[in-house]
Amino acid sequence: QSKSKITAIGTCVPERVLSNADLERMVDTSDEWIVQRTGMRERRIAAPDEYVSDLAIKAVRDMVDRYGVNVQDADMILVATSTPDYAFPSTASRVQAKLGIASTGALDVNAACAGFVYALQMADGLVTGGMYNKIVVIGAETLSKVTDYTDRTTCVLFGDGAGAVLVERDDSAGEFMASISGTYGEGGIHLYKTSLSEQMEGVELKPGSLVQNGREVYKWAVRNIPEGVRQLLDKAELSAEQVDWFVPHSANLRMIEAICERGLVPLERTLTSVEYRGNTSAASIPLALQLAVDDGRLKAGDVVLLYGFGGGMTYAGSLLRWT
Ligand code: ACO
Repeated sequence: QSKSKITAIGTCVPERVLSNADLERMVDTSDEWIVQRTGMRERRIAAPDEYVSDLAIKAVRDMVDRYGVNVQDADMILVATSTPDYAFPSTASRVQAKLGIASTGALDVNAACAGFVYALQMADGLVTGGMYNKIVVIGAETLSKVTDYTDRTTCVLFGDGAGAVLVERDDSAGEFMASISGTYGEGGIHLYKTSLSEQMEGVELKPGSLVQNGREVYKWAVRNIPEGVRQLLDKAELSAEQVDWFVPHSANLRMIEAICERGLVPLERTLTSVEYRGNTSAASIPLALQLAVDDGRLKAGDVVLLYGFGGGMTYAGSLLRWT
């Protein structure tokens, strides 16, 4: 059987910073409330004419610049996003065109904040199954475009950004150890953005912007993630002590602390991007990985446990060795 591994990473965030002080001027909130409840200090916001495909291609270009990899012969581009440029064509198709890659498959993956790990698992499956040799996997979001900046319960949370990795076939040194995923679709109502329908199954939905019942999402995540992490470790026959870095979706630092307190990987061995990027949904995990590569914490050979979770409600976790 073929094996796959991540061979490169790159990221991009928009230039504009939205600080807690800025938010204090926009809604009835305070730096103290935001830091205490979420651990967030800043987030980045796309310009009005900057879309998710723009951030995605900048992340790919950053990856190419840093690692000297060639993406022109990629077999497939997978873009995990819940804020695509259009409903269709896919953002992945726009990335293909903007990068000028002559011939490659292109597909968007919508699993909200879990999307990056889902896309990574798909890439690993397509490569290890022998179908393809090289896949560009991108997690990219412009949540600011679907955020209601008069709703203090959501507008303090979200930010924009993108991260890209290259998954390549390497039969001598495959680095994916185990993956899991699962869904609690009944909980989808706790975190949504409507598209066409404003009434479904007799439930009146708030149209337009992202809507979240933060309490319910929090409870679900804190209850279910430790169990999912344990399942993933069992599947890989590893103990929590053998994991160098836990990289959960950067939804909220307090929530991550509560998850870590449940006895798995401790907070000291957790990588996040939440403090200066906010919740960037599908981009949060690659942004956290990049920060740790840049400051030297994440090294080749480290065992990394990625765990995405969010709207759906759905989750996906993968254990791999960083290369
Ligand atoms: N500033 C000041 N006060 C606020 C703010 C704000 N920005 N937002 C809410 N409050 C108030 C509320 O109105 C409420 O006041 P009340 O008691 O007078 O009614 C009080 O603070 C408490 O509100 P809660 O919503 O109960 O606050 P909570 O402690 O639950 O924190 C938060 C809210 C941060 C959203 C938390 O619930 C959370 O992080 N949930 C998880 C979110 C998440 O992980 N999402 C992940 C997926 S994202 C995706 O998939 C796109």
